Amino acid sequence: MFGSPHFFINFFILLPCINLPDLWEELLRQNYSIIHYLKYIGGIKLFKYFNGLLYPVEVSYPDPEFGRVMFEHYGGKDSEFSAATQYMNHSYNMPNPYVSELLSLIAAEEHSHMEMVAASIQKLGGHPLCYVNSQGVPWSIEYVDQSLDPIAMLQADAEAEIRAKQLYNLHFTMTCDPKLQRMIRFLGEREDVHQHLFEKARALILQNAPLDSFRRLITEYRMSFPTA
Ligand SMILES: [Fe+2]
Ligand SMILES: [Fe+2]
Repeated sequence: MFGSPHFFINFFILLPCINLPDLWEELLRQNYSIIHYLKYIGGIKLFKYFNGLLYPVEVSYPDPEFGRVMFEHYGGKDSEFSAATQYMNHSYNMPNPYVSELLSLIAAEEHSHMEMVAASIQKLGGHPLCYVNSQGVPWSIEYVDQSLDPIAMLQADAEAEIRAKQLYNLHFTMTCDPKLQRMIRFLGEREDVHQHLFEKARALILQNAPLDSFRRLITEYRMSFPTA
C-alpha cells in the first residue's frame, strides 16, 4: 500500500507493557518491531528506545527551501513536537485509564513522526535542527493546550489533529518529489486516525459509557496501522 516492503521493519510505538514477553510475542506475531515502548515498573514509566523510523524517509533531490518549510512540523505551532507534548501531559491528567493509555500511545507515535520530519529536513539539506518554525520563530509552550477537563482535553486534541492534517495537505502541494509526498501522505493519514480516536473517546465520555467500552479504543489504535 505504501510502496515499501520494509514498512513494518522499522516501527515506532509506545505501549504500556504490563507483561513484556506477551507484548513481544504479540508484536512479532503482527510483524512489528518496536522502537519505543512504555514499561510500568512499580508505577514508574520508562521509555526504551530502538533505533529506526516508523516509515521510510526518502528524498529524490536536496531541497533546502522545502527543508525550511518542514520545520513547521518540527518546531511550529501545529508541529509533531506540540502534539506529542500536549498529549503526554493530557495523558497524565486523564482520569479514564484507557483514554490515558490512548493518549500515551499517540504521543509516542507523534515522537516517531517528529523523527521522520527531522530525517526529511536533514536529507533535504535544511538548516540544523532546532525548535523553531519555518520562519525561525522559537517554539512556545503557548502552543500546548493544558486543559484539565477530559472533554476539553479531547476536543483540543482532535482540533490539533485537524490542524496538523491541514498543514500536511498544504505542504503536500508544495513539493514535486513523489518520495516526500508519500511520506507526507502517510503522516496526514495517521493524523486522521488520531482525530477519529480522540473524537470517539470524547463521545464515549459524554455518553457515560461503561469503562470496558473504552478498551476498544486501544484495540482500534493498534489495528489502525496499514499492513504492508
Ligand atoms: Fe503526527
Ligand atoms: Fe496525530
